[in-house]
Amino acid sequence: MPNFQTVRGMRDLLAEEAAILNFVVGKARETAQLYGYKEVITPVVEPYELLSAKSGEEIRQRMFIFKDLGDRDVALRPEFTASIARLATTALKTEPKPLRVFSVGSVYRYDEPQRGRYREFWQSNFELMGSSNSEADAEAILLTNSLMKASGLQGYAFKIGNIGVIRGVLTQMNVDDKVQNAVLQRMDKKEYYEAFKLLDNEKCRTVLQGLLELKGGTPFETAEKITEYVAGYAEAEAAADNLLEILQLVTASGCPVRAVEPAFARGLEYYTGMIFEVNVPELDIALGGGGRYDRLIEVFGGEPTPAVGVAHGLDRVALALQTQKTELPAGRRKTAVVIPVKPELKAEALKIAQLLMEAGVSVEFEVMGRKMGKALEDADRRKVDYAVIVGERELKDDAVVVKDLVKREQSTMKIAELPEKIS
Ligand code: HAM
Repeated sequence: MPNFQTVRGMRDLLAEEAAILNFVVGKARETAQLYGYKEVITPVVEPYELLSAKSGEEIRQRMFIFKDLGDRDVALRPEFTASIARLATTALKTEPKPLRVFSVGSVYRYDEPQRGRYREFWQSNFELMGSSNSEADAEAILLTNSLMKASGLQGYAFKIGNIGVIRGVLTQMNVDDKVQNAVLQRMDKKEYYEAFKLLDNEKCRTVLQGLLELKGGTPFETAEKITEYVAGYAEAEAAADNLLEILQLVTASGCPVRAVEPAFARGLEYYTGMIFEVNVPELDIALGGGGRYDRLIEVFGGEPTPAVGVAHGLDRVALALQTQKTELPAGRRKTAVVIPVKPELKAEALKIAQLLMEAGVSVEFEVMGRKMGKALEDADRRKVDYAVIVGERELKDDAVVVKDLVKREQSTMKIAELPEKIS
């Protein structure tokens, strides 16, 4: 017999894990509603060309790519942003701005599997299109704050930067985009030596090195130091001012910012401005990240449209909740088992079960044909609230026997009164 296992990096989520993930998915959906983001559902399989444009080398090399039977080059989505940018140039093209779009689902990356890093994982994704203002950037951070808070996470904090600072300096020193991308890719992995090696201009290396050394101090001190440091590099200066402004906006709402990172870069290539990540102390991986990408929609053939967004790694949020031993709020539904005393009463019993379910009670019907004693023992073991026993004698009076398995009480109840009494 073959010993079937999941494909490396893919997981089965059993009841408890699935419940935590679903709890977080629910919180993400609630957050989307609170912030006015409309949910869209996009395909898991997209054209390779769409997913690879502007995502960057890092992601391109980790995509699940294949040819479909029609010989098309397709891939499993490694993120949502490309699909949403596609929509912004097609079906949502004429929607009034600002446009707020939410998605949630599984995404796929050929990452090296380890704790919190999988090849199939869940993201909740928020994109805000049409505004280049700092309050739009702040919204991506604030909604992430709301989601982390609503999930019950403790001690999470944000790291913020602005990719425009480094890009501004490099552009002014005539470093072309390709080299910039390669440099930023390495900086994202904290391979600074490798990054600097790509720059043949000595001054360029010195300026970047100096930027790295601005680290430390409070977020506001660092943001101010960056502004002073890049004086004279117009684009970088504007990016630094923008960073300070966003910092002011989010901290005014009580958002916990741990650090402003002068040399912060993210793996994706499409970012043009503010970037951020959120972490908890127990895990050394980001629970979410995002930023501003003002040119992607244009690359996809749309009108130039400023945009900012974020994706949350919901498996990681779930993992952080487990690590912090957070108790999920208990389900509010009452639970019951319905047991016919003998096979001839199955139809009546099923009808009563339906009645209870329609009233919102979670019902497990006795499908094993067990004797009453065994069925009740099993209900007890599973911590069910009520056992509804359907017997001939009571049915004659349109009634059933109800055992309250928590209070250990038993009574005879009219069927018509059951839903109200139990739910
Ligand atoms: P990202 O930083 O590549 O950004 O991914 C967002 C989040 O997905 C990460 O912070 C992390 O929590 C989670 N994640 C990434 N890789 C894995 C993995 N292998 N296993 C588990 N979780 C993982 C984006 O995807 C951008 N599309 C975000 C964005 C939206 N930017 C603008 N709009």
